[in-house]
Amino acid sequence: MKIAFIIGTRPEIIKMSPLIDEVDKRGIDYILVHTGQHYDHEMSQQFFLDLELKEPDYNIGVGSDSHGKQTATMLKGIEEVLTSEKPDIVLVQGDTNAVLAGALAAAKLHIAVGHVEAGLRSYDKTMPEEINRMAADVCTNLFFVPTEETAINLLFEGISPKDIFITGNTVVDACYRNLKIAKKSSHIMSKLELEGNILSLTLHRAENVDDRERLENIIEALLNIEDLTIIFPVHPRTVKTLKQFGMYSKLKKAPHIKMIKPVGYLDFLILESHSKMMITDSGGIQEEAITLNVPCLTLRYNTERPETVQAGGNILVGSDTKKITKNVSQILNDHEIYRKMREAPNPYGDGKTSEKILDAILDSYNQGKLEIKPPEEIATDHSKKLLRVDEDITVAEFENKNPRYMINLVFDDNTPNYPHPNISLKGKTIIVSY
Ligand code: UD1
Ligand code: UDP
Repeated sequence: MKIAFIIGTRPEIIKMSPLIDEVDKRGIDYILVHTGQHYDHEMSQQFFLDLELKEPDYNIGVGSDSHGKQTATMLKGIEEVLTSEKPDIVLVQGDTNAVLAGALAAAKLHIAVGHVEAGLRSYDKTMPEEINRMAADVCTNLFFVPTEETAINLLFEGISPKDIFITGNTVVDACYRNLKIAKKSSHIMSKLELEGNILSLTLHRAENVDDRERLENIIEALLNIEDLTIIFPVHPRTVKTLKQFGMYSKLKKAPHIKMIKPVGYLDFLILESHSKMMITDSGGIQEEAITLNVPCLTLRYNTERPETVQAGGNILVGSDTKKITKNVSQILNDHEIYRKMREAPNPYGDGKTSEKILDAILDSYNQGKLEIKPPEEIATDHSKKLLRVDEDITVAEFENKNPRYMINLVFDDNTPNYPHPNISLKGKTIIVSY
């Protein structure tokens, strides 16, 4: 059994790290393929050090470029590596260009693809990430989804529940493991001469930082938030456009805003856990904030992490100056709102996601499911239909009794539910495929 991990950017290194550790612990053969999309020391190498990962076996060295050129170079490089290494499964994580290139290269070579954090949807195709995760899911064989809600997104796209594993998110594993280490080894608070009252900010999403008006509106809000110190590790993309739009020095001069270079993971966990709240447009930080019980304001108009909003830990404020300042003020001044946001339940699991993912991979391997072969039988109809069930019967019992049918979705009144084997179908409508 051999696993190829594809990584390319800061969040992929962080979120793959617990799974790499788990694979290492169980003595399974693996290779690390870095696309080189993130290459600055503080965007890449620092995380290998913090997370004690081995150096990548391959670095494709794509660097920065347009989406088309970057993805094409990755696709070519990954294909070469996979052709010579012949892994049993390729694992991709999240929604970056590496995910698209890795999943596509593997699928065309008939190598099984496991997508960690599959099924997330913002339903906004102007986001490059939405295209990447949707296209990757077309190529995916094993879908490791963080929540039941994400699983249902995939069921509506016709994915079989047999290929979906609801595992939680490895971000929780990474947070739990590394916060303990960070508390002992990070000196970021004293280095930056910080005490309690801080707010941490990150900003890098293309639709915010490449858009002059949106960026201006966000900055106006930040300049108005003077009740606490804002710590702002600035992503290189954002440095570039802040300078290009002539906004960098205005922000730099604000006495309550500390602009710093991106920090390592251990330092960032300490900043987050000392923050009264996070303001961010990051995907991973929406998840980390709820994991660390820190209220989060998200500078976006939609999110592929709606669970954090429904749980009450995250509020979408877009790039609307008034909405941002009003919500910051409410969170800081209304103890009840602050308490509710802090106590929002974490939808992303118990920190054992990487174990669950690896168990599922090994199970699939042992059952021969990672061998992607062309069909040897003439295909009969592939169809779906709606059925109303009046019998007192569970999902598993129904499927045993009707081996032709596989249940895709269960509707309880109008609400779609995941077809867990033990749920009762009496009085419900189901979608079956046959
Ligand atoms: C990428 C991902 C995004 C993810 C983010 C994590 C895609 C389409 N985007 O966005 O989903 O949330 O990573 O941080 O895959 N740069 C440097 N040094 C670096 C890396 C980038 O200076 O090490 C600068 C370059 O000017 C580059 C710009 O940042 O053009 C953007 O980098 P890029 O990797 O294209 O996208 P991200 O915004 O980092
Ligand atoms: N992060 C970090 N240092 C920083 C900013 C962020 O270590 O200066 C970590 C953060 O803890 C989270 C991840 O980077 O785990 C999020 O990455 P990013 O926001 O770049 O990407 P996204 O999650 O939006 O794809």
